[in-house]
Amino acid sequence: MREDPEGIQYKKIMKLGSFKNKIVLDVGCGSGTYRYLISLTKKVVGIDPSVMLIKKAQDQLPDNLKQKVTYQVGSGEELNFKDETFDLALFSWSLHHISIKFQKKACRETSRVLKKGGQLLILEPTLKGEFIRFTEISHPEIEPVKNVITILLQLIGKFFELESQETFVIKYYFDSEDEAIKYLRREDNLPLSKDAEVLRLLKSCKRVKNEILIEEGARILSLRKT
Ligand SMILES: C[S@@+](CC[C@H](N)C(=O)[O-])C[C@H]1O[C@@H](n2cnc3c(N)ncnc32)[C@H](O)[C@@H]1O
Repeated sequence: MREDPEGIQYKKIMKLGSFKNKIVLDVGCGSGTYRYLISLTKKVVGIDPSVMLIKKAQDQLPDNLKQKVTYQVGSGEELNFKDETFDLALFSWSLHHISIKFQKKACRETSRVLKKGGQLLILEPTLKGEFIRFTEISHPEIEPVKNVITILLQLIGKFFELESQETFVIKYYFDSEDEAIKYLRREDNLPLSKDAEVLRLLKSCKRVKNEILIEEGARILSLRKT
């Protein structure tokens, strides 16, 4: 399996985000995907409601980065930090994972803990990629993604201004249908009972040489707290 072999996600994050010497909040940090950015920053706080993922993030953190990072269990909609604590906040594929009724609260909470002029980076799926059609088989993502867009349109102009946004495509290559099914089962909690549906979708994906290509549509937005 080859995930984003061009490293496009990393390049976009580095292009739009200013991390150097910044105090960063990673909301929905999972197992600490953005470990590689830590050396640039002054300090990183990663929060996630999953006890298991926070433990994994802590366990995977190299000793030399431990002084700069805190991973703690928490939710985006109830941030346990003082007003104007952070220079930059990041939601990477996490805002649409917050339940629809709390997404707006999570954005307002993030605005509260950001310093004035602070940066909010949001990475979300677009509705155009194939990947979201796979994840939709196990849990609804399309409606939460649509709701994120509605909320952002309401908040831009009130709490944030839109600095820039880009859309791009992340590519996943699989050697076989079996490999793709195993990956989707693990990453997106697809139950075994859904294999037939996954196989049907896989048949419609592009083939590049001998590999199956699944494309994920991504949008990155950079907002400024006003
Ligand atoms: C697709 S993962 C993204 C993980 C990581 N940010 C990344 O880019 O790889 C979505 C994450 O959102 C987290 N999440 C779910 N509900 C949340 C909430 N209410 N507040 C913050 N994070 C939440 C999940 O636990 C999960 O780790």
